[in-house]
Amino acid sequence: MLPLLFALLSALALQTTHAATVFAHFMLMNSYAYDEGQWKTDIAAAQQVGIDGFALNWIPPNCQGDESWAVDRIDDAFHAAEDLGFKLMYSFDMSYTECDVYWNQTFMQDMIVKYAGSSATYRWNSNIVVSTYGGDQVDDQYGDMFFQGLKDRMKSSNAITLVPALTTYSMAAQTDPSKAAKKLISEYPSIDGYFNWQAWPLDVDQNITASPDLAFQSALKNAGKTGPYMMAMSPWQYKDLNNGNPLDAWVAYSDMLFPKRFQQITANDQIQPDIIEILTWNDFCESHYIRDLPSQDIKAKDYVELGDMGAYVWGQNHAPWRIIAKYYISWWKNGSPPPITMDQVVFWHRIHPKGTICTGGSSSGIRNNAFPEDAVFAWALVSESSTISMSVGSNKYWTFRADSSGPAMGMIPFPAYVSQSGVTPEVAIVRNGETVHTGKSSQPISSACAWQNFNPVVSLVGDGINSGPSASSY
Ligand SMILES: *[C@@H]1O[C@H](CO)[C@@H](O)[C@H](O)[C@H]1NC(C)=O
Ligand SMILES: *[C@@H]1O[C@H](CO)[C@@H](O)[C@H](O)[C@H]1NC(C)=O
Repeated sequence: MLPLLFALLSALALQTTHAATVFAHFMLMNSYAYDEGQWKTDIAAAQQVGIDGFALNWIPPNCQGDESWAVDRIDDAFHAAEDLGFKLMYSFDMSYTECDVYWNQTFMQDMIVKYAGSSATYRWNSNIVVSTYGGDQVDDQYGDMFFQGLKDRMKSSNAITLVPALTTYSMAAQTDPSKAAKKLISEYPSIDGYFNWQAWPLDVDQNITASPDLAFQSALKNAGKTGPYMMAMSPWQYKDLNNGNPLDAWVAYSDMLFPKRFQQITANDQIQPDIIEILTWNDFCESHYIRDLPSQDIKAKDYVELGDMGAYVWGQNHAPWRIIAKYYISWWKNGSPPPITMDQVVFWHRIHPKGTICTGGSSSGIRNNAFPEDAVFAWALVSESSTISMSVGSNKYWTFRADSSGPAMGMIPFPAYVSQSGVTPEVAIVRNGETVHTGKSSQPISSACAWQNFNPVVSLVGDGINSGPSASSY
């Protein structure tokens, strides 16, 4: 009896220490037009996917111009989150190298304390969790002493658990994981946990591995740190500031990144982080948003001004990627894959061949532009054994099999010749010789392009399609 009880208790303890919490990175800059109702809409859409909270990324409100409105948006966000049982944490953006006013401990402390009593404040072992983007790049402003100072101020009344994303260490870990992790622990004794920001292969034509994640996680553990290990998951990375500087235009090899990265915590079970953070909910300019596209109507509550970068964002819907996120999140949280009740094929592609020179954008200077494959990628989740058939232009009826045992992936290359008028990919789900669902991409692939664009468009064939991008069936 006793050994059995003990085994049961320890199994229970194991279960409860596996936190399995999901955050999504939220760019506060893009909430300028939000009211509380809009926050609720976003939060409900995130909860539909299994996301438990937003990490609110904001820059110092007086860094460049006046961004003090962000303080009011945060207030609305907390009210909305409290009503919907959602969590929020700050992600102080410390990456800006030129600010009129940088982050300072007094202001940060005030902003943390302001919501210390809120049910929406995310806590770890009763401490308030504070995250960052950076803190290691602007030497004369931040660094370990700065973090320690903030922690000391908070210690007596509202202790914090510090989980920063120190990007130079995350980047270094791509080549030498254990060295970078050791260096992090020795140079940042103030940290309690770590957020490994690097969710994309770093300037290499390779699939991402979990080695850096494993190294950071075990370094934290060996150092006796009590904070969470947070792992980043992202579907894509492409940005073009179009300023003539080749350093400011890049794409990361992301073709099948989203499902493959998720598989590291589910199917392959290579690593068990405490928290995952999806990069991102709404960073449109880096092409890794999973939110619906914002409105272009200046009166809308989710109006976002994207400037030149809108040229590669407008029309490039990513919402069906949330189906992929939802599936793996459910698997990760429950420890087993969810039953498949619908037939859904999510597929994505870029809208011009990578060699095409477009009229606008950084046509010749996009770093890593040879890495992406000119292909349409598909992720199929079907309730019964099916053939998934894909066609694009002169490439017709490429097939792969899928069944109810789990997701299946396939692809079809762009045809060798893509006309200016373009070809639109088409996907069908075929079962027992009958086409049960068929559909086209929302955008063609064309060799006539007004703007260099390595941001893909994502489409869905199958169930849930008629309910639109915010479909509750997602
Ligand atoms: C601290 O930051 C706040 C917000 O940017 C700013 O208003 C304030 O002037 C700063 N204080 C100092 C001493 O720099
Ligand atoms: C990434 O992995 C897939 C198999 O899962 C493989 O087909 C593909 O070639 C790999 N990509 C690179 C750049 O090695």
